[in-house]
Amino acid sequence: MTLTNMVGVRCCFKLLYAIVVLILLHMNNPCIGCSERERQALLALKQGLVVDYIDPFLSWGREAQNKDCCEWDGVHCSDQTGHVVKLDLRYQHLQGKISPKLIELQHLEHLDLSGNNFSRSQIPDFIGSLSNLIYLDLSHANFGGLIPYQLGNLRNLEHLDLGYQDDFKYSGSIYAKNLYWLPNLSRLKDLNLNSVNLSDVVGWLEAVNMLPKLTNLMLPMCNLPPPVISSVSLLNSSKSLVQVDLSKNNLNSSIFQLLPGAYTNLVSLDLSENKLSGRIPESIGQMSNLVFLDLHMNSFEGVISETHFSKLSELRFLDLSSNSLVLNFSFDWVPPFQLVQISLGSCKMGPYFPKWLRTQKSYRWLDISDAGISDTIPTWFWEFWENEVEYMDLSHNQLRGNLRSELASSYLNVSWNQLEGPIPSILSTVLTLDLSNNKFSGSASFLCTGTTEERNLSYLDLSSNHVSGELSDCWIHFQQLDFLDLSNNSLSGKIPTTMGYLFSIKTLKLNNNRFVGELPSQLKNCEELTLVDVGENKLSGLIPEWLGENLLNLSIIILQSNQFYRSIPPQLCHLTHLQILDLSMNNISGTIPKCLNNLTTLAQNGHSSPSIIRYTTFWWEESSYDLPYEYEESLTWKGVRSKYKSILGLVKSIDLSCNKLSGEIPTEITYLVGLVSLNLSRNQLTGQIPSRIGNLQELDSLDLSRNQINGRIPISISWINRIGYLDLSENNLSGKIPISTQLQTFDFAYGGNPLLCGEPLRRTCPEEEKGSGQSVLVNEDDKDGLITRGFYISMGLGFAVGFWGVCGTLLLNRSCRYTYFNFLTFLNDWIAGTFETTCFPSVEDGCNEGLLFVLVFEYLSDDKGSH
Ligand SMILES: *[C@@H]1O[C@H](CO)[C@@H](O)[C@H](O)[C@H]1NC(C)=O
Ligand SMILES: *[C@@H]1O[C@H](CO)[C@@H](O)[C@H](O)[C@H]1NC(C)=O
Ligand SMILES: *[C@@H]1O[C@H](CO)[C@@H](O)[C@H](O)[C@H]1NC(C)=O
Ligand SMILES: *[C@@H]1O[C@H](CO)[C@@H](O)[C@H](O)[C@H]1NC(C)=O
Ligand SMILES: *[C@@H]1O[C@H](CO)[C@@H](O)[C@H](O)[C@H]1NC(C)=O
Ligand SMILES: *[C@@H]1O[C@H](CO)[C@@H](O)[C@H](O)[C@H]1NC(C)=O
Ligand SMILES: *[C@@H]1O[C@H](CO)[C@@H](O)[C@H](O)[C@H]1NC(C)=O
Ligand SMILES: *[C@@H]1O[C@H](CO)[C@@H](O)[C@H](O)[C@H]1NC(C)=O
Ligand SMILES: *[C@@H]1O[C@H](CO)[C@@H](O)[C@H](O)[C@H]1NC(C)=O
Ligand SMILES: *[C@@H]1O[C@H](CO)[C@@H](O)[C@H](O)[C@H]1NC(C)=O
Ligand SMILES: *[C@@H]1O[C@H](CO)[C@@H](O)[C@H](O)[C@H]1NC(C)=O
Repeated sequence: MTLTNMVGVRCCFKLLYAIVVLILLHMNNPCIGCSERERQALLALKQGLVVDYIDPFLSWGREAQNKDCCEWDGVHCSDQTGHVVKLDLRYQHLQGKISPKLIELQHLEHLDLSGNNFSRSQIPDFIGSLSNLIYLDLSHANFGGLIPYQLGNLRNLEHLDLGYQDDFKYSGSIYAKNLYWLPNLSRLKDLNLNSVNLSDVVGWLEAVNMLPKLTNLMLPMCNLPPPVISSVSLLNSSKSLVQVDLSKNNLNSSIFQLLPGAYTNLVSLDLSENKLSGRIPESIGQMSNLVFLDLHMNSFEGVISETHFSKLSELRFLDLSSNSLVLNFSFDWVPPFQLVQISLGSCKMGPYFPKWLRTQKSYRWLDISDAGISDTIPTWFWEFWENEVEYMDLSHNQLRGNLRSELASSYLNVSWNQLEGPIPSILSTVLTLDLSNNKFSGSASFLCTGTTEERNLSYLDLSSNHVSGELSDCWIHFQQLDFLDLSNNSLSGKIPTTMGYLFSIKTLKLNNNRFVGELPSQLKNCEELTLVDVGENKLSGLIPEWLGENLLNLSIIILQSNQFYRSIPPQLCHLTHLQILDLSMNNISGTIPKCLNNLTTLAQNGHSSPSIIRYTTFWWEESSYDLPYEYEESLTWKGVRSKYKSILGLVKSIDLSCNKLSGEIPTEITYLVGLVSLNLSRNQLTGQIPSRIGNLQELDSLDLSRNQINGRIPISISWINRIGYLDLSENNLSGKIPISTQLQTFDFAYGGNPLLCGEPLRRTCPEEEKGSGQSVLVNEDDKDGLITRGFYISMGLGFAVGFWGVCGTLLLNRSCRYTYFNFLTFLNDWIAGTFETTCFPSVEDGCNEGLLFVLVFEYLSDDKGSH
């Protein structure tokens, strides 16, 4: 062999060797592919899942070019071992079942299936076999049922998120009966069980406390029971915790035993919307890293002093609102913090305007509503407005002084104060402006001053002030306006035609002013209108046909106490959403339209949508708030608007009283079985009461008095079990009054009908001895039980929150009617505005003397009498 040959052969061997090594390397090389087992497991997973959107599995295939599953979307392999270590399929709109073959991915460290839809199925227990998992996110995935205890095998887990299984409800159908398995996850740092139902987990606090590395504890909306503090030391996790969210549970103050001064790492603490009572411990002031503190909506009481904040120099977000707290700081207190959000609604800090606010230079959210401040707004306060204060609620105090024009906030609520003077032209940036119930005066022209550009204002409440003059015709610039309430001022002149440009408007309240002229026909462009109240003005003209032709979403029409004349246009019958129609106290003549049975909402009983008014949405820190019910069902509502929301949707009422209507009462009216109140009194109606009037089973109040109605009182009237107020007086009715438990109790309902006889009138009927068969005995009243004053009062108070929920089933019970009267009184009050108003100034006895109100007393005294 020549040297060259030798070299050649060696080279060949070397080459061969290199190739073999390369092949061997190739087989083990992570870059070349995952193991067949893993590949099959992933394909099985894909098999079980249904894609209804963009297919995330396009790259997952059997074909040669797709063989390497490490290259598949969402799959990640380890550089060292080549095994699948991470599977990320979040928010892929997947549905279906998770294949048990998943457990073949034994090297998996990170599994994220969040944001998919597993149709309330249980979290598969075999996930507990993926013992290398460090990160598990199954949140927002519509899992249901019991959380498998097998998760306790995931000893390496650091991050566990099972929260928000049902994004639309407060508490989903996923639950745990105990958390015995939780302490096994001794490496856990993040635990999120948001909205998991833990109502039966008594030892949740102990379980959580055995996690020595726990940093973020998120258990809001879990129905957590109050912690039972045993002798167990609670100090283990306390040192590591940084973020604690236990909001919206049933916790009591024992939770504070979890929070000894040792808790210095805590950055964020949210215990809002629980049942914490007593004093807030001063030790909270030692949490020197605290940035976020939210204790709103509990039952805390007592005094908050400077000590509570002594070391809180990092604090930025503070919410103590909706408790019964008193803030008592020394006059020249300089807080250690600079807050961004100051939420102290209902915390009493008066009578002087809080001076420490002057030290706060960077807040963007300020709520000091209902704070007992009775003071003039100091000048320095307005200097803040150079900053962007997004949200400013000073309502329900006794603030005096003027509004300054430096305002730059997008939400400003100064309602229920004693602010005065003209309203400055401040509206260029504001979105929600509530100036109601103050003493603002001057002309309404501020709305238009300097306006040439589109305004973003969506909510304006100026009601109950002393604003006067004519409205300027500049509404073309307010096309975002959704809610406009100018009621109870001294506005005069015509309603401007440019209001027809309010294309977004849903609520329009101009009532209780001095507007004259007709309703401008341009309003027919405001097709989203739901509520129109122009009552108590001096408007005249015909009732517009376009109300029924164009504004098909109208639920509430109130034209009462004006000078509208001629007949009721039949077009109003097109309003299938109509719930309240009040045309009382006008000069309306003609007959009642027969098409009334087309009013489908009134022709149905039940209450499909208790809320009929929408509000503007306010964004803050990436959360949206629907004002004023940013907390919707969970907050106590106060003030007029919340009452609308909760009550108006329940009311179905027609009031045509005090007009000049003639002809018969159309029998079609008996189709309106949802009606709660019907008032046709003080007209010139003739003919008989429709015999099927008893179909109106929901009717609580029926007033047909002061007409020329003749004939007998239909027996069916005695079938209306709920009737609480009846007035048929001053007609030409005849014959015997039907007998029922109720009908005889309405002592004053039948007077002025000379031909009527029988109880409760003194006149006995001639044929009574023979037993005419007229009497129908219905529904013996349940006189016992429940009829206590306390019941009445509490029902009355609870009413605003949801009368029907509480009382719906009790309505058959007479005792409950008292509450109902209370509610109708409110309605009557609200619709009528004032008890003193009379039908026509010349009519002595008046039309609107608060009959229902009288009735409440009548019934209450009746109640007393019967006991
Ligand atoms: C989830 O899927 C079920 C059908 O399996 C469907 O009824 C439900 O509406 C889906 N939920 C969501 C939020 O898409
Ligand atoms: C928790 O760990 C213990 C051993 O430390 C074990 O006996 C038990 O089965 C584990 N529980 C669960 C639910 O995994
Ligand atoms: C939570 O679970 C308890 C009992 O396990 C049950 O009574 C309650 O209705 C559940 N709550 C919700 C909101 O699902
Ligand atoms: C606290 O942790 C220590 C060790 O870190 C452990 O020995 C002890 O049992 C733990 N206490 C509780 C109550 O979990
Ligand atoms: C909290 O509730 C638990 C369980 O009902 C009770 O043992 C404890 O005394 C309560 N603590 C307070 C401060 O009310
Ligand atoms: C407020 O604090 C002062 C002393 O700083 C004290 O004299 C006063 O009684 C406190 N008021 C209340 C209501 O606690
Ligand atoms: C209204 O809002 C738009 C978009 O947010 C903004 O660009 C515009 O400047 C605002 N207009 C006024 C008058 O503030
Ligand atoms: C109308 O406003 C006055 C104060 O201007 C107030 O006293 C009265 O209660 C208001 N009426 C209604 C019905 O709101
Ligand atoms: C009427 O209201 C419904 C919702 O209640 C809404 O979807 C619809 O767009 C409204 N119609 C108009 C013309 O605004
Ligand atoms: C009432 O409804 C009927 C049938 O839906 C319809 O034919 C009629 O035109 C409607 N009448 C009025 C006045 O709306
Ligand atoms: C303003 O505050 C009052 C009283 O706190 C409240 O009733 C009302 O809803 C608020 N207005 C707005 C627009 O949020």
